[in-house]
Amino acid sequence: MSERQQFKGRRAFIFAAIGSAVGLGNIWRFPYVAYEGGGGAFIVPYLVALMTAGIPLLFMYYAIGHKFRGSAPLSWRRLGGGAESIGWWQVGISFVIAVYYAVIIAWAVRYIGFSATEAWGEEPGAFLIGQFLQQAEGDAGFDVGLTLVPGVAIPLALIWVFALLVHWRGIQGGIARISMIFIPLLVAIFLVLVVRALTLPGAIDGLDALFTPDWSALTDADVWVAAYGQIFFSLSIGFGIMITYAAHLKQKTNLTGSGLTVAFSNSGFELLAGIGVFATLGFMAQAAGVGVSEVADSGIGLAFIAFPTIISTMPGGAFFGVLFFTALVLAGITSLVSIVEVVLTAIEDKFGLSRNASVFGVGGVMAIVSLLLFPTTTGLNLLDVLDAFANNFGIVGAGLASVITLAWGLRRLGMLGDHLNEVSSFKVGLLWKLMVGLVTPLILGFMFVSQVISRIQDGYGEMPSGYVALYGWGSAIGLLVIAAIMTVIPWRKGVVAAHDAGQ
Ligand code: PHE
Ligand code: NA
Repeated sequence: MSERQQFKGRRAFIFAAIGSAVGLGNIWRFPYVAYEGGGGAFIVPYLVALMTAGIPLLFMYYAIGHKFRGSAPLSWRRLGGGAESIGWWQVGISFVIAVYYAVIIAWAVRYIGFSATEAWGEEPGAFLIGQFLQQAEGDAGFDVGLTLVPGVAIPLALIWVFALLVHWRGIQGGIARISMIFIPLLVAIFLVLVVRALTLPGAIDGLDALFTPDWSALTDADVWVAAYGQIFFSLSIGFGIMITYAAHLKQKTNLTGSGLTVAFSNSGFELLAGIGVFATLGFMAQAAGVGVSEVADSGIGLAFIAFPTIISTMPGGAFFGVLFFTALVLAGITSLVSIVEVVLTAIEDKFGLSRNASVFGVGGVMAIVSLLLFPTTTGLNLLDVLDAFANNFGIVGAGLASVITLAWGLRRLGMLGDHLNEVSSFKVGLLWKLMVGLVTPLILGFMFVSQVISRIQDGYGEMPSGYVALYGWGSAIGLLVIAAIMTVIPWRKGVVAAHDAGQ
C-alpha cells in the first residue's frame, strides 16, 4: 500500500470514520425512526442495539481490516477461503448504494439554490415531483427510461467529479483531509440551525412529540428491528467501509478507543438532529394549526417537502434553508466517498490496478451508471426500490454472513479479540465474544427472515409486483451472482500470500 494511501494518524482516521457515519441517516432517518418507534421510549431499543450489535461489530470490522490489511474481499479472503464472497457482496452493496446516494446529495445541492429564491412556491411537494424531478405520472414511472432531467443531472455530475477528485488525492490527502474540514463545519452549521429551531414558537411541542415515551412500543418486535436497522445504517456497518478504513491504519493504533469515539459522536449527532428537526416540525405544526403528528414526514419528504414548507413561513427562512441544505451536502459527501472507497480499493487489490486506473476506470463507471439511471423522469421509483432492498437485505445479510462466519470457529473470534487487545486501550473479552458470536447472529437472523417474509407477502408499498421483482429481487440475485464470479476469479499473483509472509 503506497504512502498516500495511509492515514497519517489516529485523528485523521477518526475524522474519516465519523465522516462516513454522520450522514443523511442522522439527519432525516433517525428523527423519524425514533418518533415512530415510541419517542422517548425508543432510547431503550436504540441503546441496546448500540451496545449489543453496533459497537461490538464496529470493533469486529476494525479488527478484520487492521489485522488482514486489505480491502473487504482481500481481508475476508485472508481470514479464510470462502469468506471472500462476503467481501464481494459488501462491494456490490456499496456500488448500488453509492450510485443512488449521490443523487440525493445532488438534489440537496440544487436545493441550496432553490432555498435562496424559495423557488418551490406554495406547494413544495408538487414542485419536487413535478417541476424539479419531472417524474412521469402514474404507471409510466414504473419503467426505466433514460430521459435525463438536467436540473438533477448537472449537480450530480459535479458531485461525482468532486468525489472522484477526493479519491484521486487518496486516503490521507483526500478523504481524511475533507473530513477534517467538513465535519467541524457541519457541526458549526448544525449548532446554528438547532439554536434557531429551538427559539421558534412551537418548538417545545415538537420536542414533546419526539420525547414523550410510549412504553408500549417496547413490546413491538418491529420497533426493535427498526432500532437495529438504524444502528447498522447509521454506523456504516456491514458495507465493508470499516474494514477498508482500518486496513489503512498504522500497525499500532488504538482501535477500540477510536471505535467508541466514532460511535458516540455519531449518536450525539443523531440526538442533535432529532432535537433540531422536531423543534422545527413543532413550529410548522403550530403555524398550520395542526398536531405535530400531521407534519412529521419521513425520508425524502422531510428534507425536500416539509423543510421547504417551513423555510417559506419562517423569518429569515432563505438563509436557514441555505444552511440546512449545505449541511445535508457536507454530511452526504463524506459518507459517499467512504462507500465508493470500498469499491475502488477492492478492485485495486484484486487486479493490481493503480489508484489512477481505479479512480478513472471504476469510479468513472459508477458515475456513468449513476448519471444514466437516476436523474431521469423515472429515477425516483428506482431509487426507492433499491434503497429498500439494499438496506433490508443487503446490509442485514452482510452483517449476518459476517457474524456467522466468525462464530463458526470461535477460534477466529478469539484471534480478532486478541488483535484488538494487543493494540487498544479498551479491552474486549467474553462479553464481546458473546455479543458478536451469539446475540447478534440471533437478532440479525430474526431480522433477515422476517424481512424476507414480509417482502414476499406484502410486496413493497404501492409498487407493482413485477417492478419489485425485476429491480429489487433482480438486483439482489444479480449481486449474488457477481459476488460468486468475483470470488472465483484468481487474485493477481502473490497478493493473498503476501500477508502470510509478513509483508
Ligand atoms: N452512515 C450513513 C448515514 O448515517 C449512511 C451511510 C452508510 C452512507 C454507508 C454511506 C455509506 O447517513
Ligand atoms: Na449515521
